[in-house]
Amino acid sequence: MISIAIDGPSGAGKSTISRTVAEKLGYLYVDTGALYRTIGLFVLRNGGDPKNETQVAALLPQLKVDMGYENGIQQMFLQGENVTDQIRTPEVSMAASGVSAHGCVRAYLLDLQRRLARENNVIMDGRDIGTVVLPDADVKIFLTASSEVRAKRRFKELTAKGEKTTFETVLEDVEKRDYADIHRALSPLTQAEDAVVADTSQLDFAESVTLIQKIITDHLSKKMV
Ligand code: DC
Repeated sequence: MISIAIDGPSGAGKSTISRTVAEKLGYLYVDTGALYRTIGLFVLRNGGDPKNETQVAALLPQLKVDMGYENGIQQMFLQGENVTDQIRTPEVSMAASGVSAHGCVRAYLLDLQRRLARENNVIMDGRDIGTVVLPDADVKIFLTASSEVRAKRRFKELTAKGEKTTFETVLEDVEKRDYADIHRALSPLTQAEDAVVADTSQLDFAESVTLIQKIITDHLSKKMV
């Protein structure tokens, strides 16, 4: 099986770019952030504090998280309910960042992610895929863009969905989450030594897709030789 790891900060376009490239290559696309988001939502719904590891660990035994695909789009299920849309709010983003710092949560999700990569050709995106989850991935990409560009994209997405927010709030959220993701003790957001860096600040969506696809095919063809 072939695995491609795509890591990088929030809002760099990882999910949309990875999903599109996966479709072109016929690979399964796995958005691992959605797993952390679903656990974040679960903790919020149960009145827990996502940052409190003791509370989160106490809730985990009741958690039932499942993943499926509908027309090629990853769907998340929490206790059997499809929560694919509910996990995209700013509140759940912060909760996901909170729960993702805990060892119990990361351990809970590790097997699931590795099993998906064992059974399928995958493009898996997240923060620690190339460093922790799939250290032997065939290709590792660190996809990034400046925080202003990422906040601009996120702001557009949120307002298109009717969320009332300001660019400044979104930028602050992006920077807060970057800080938390980079500075946490467990599996922090870092570039794997053998990752190729792709900066999409100056690229539009189509150009980004072309770049990522080229990095993947170039690496895979070199490996075949
Ligand atoms: O990619 P995203 O914004 O959907 O991720 C949500 C949160 O989950 C983010 O704050 C970091 C965390 N995350 C993680 O710690 N490890 C991953 N592999 C994916 C996401």
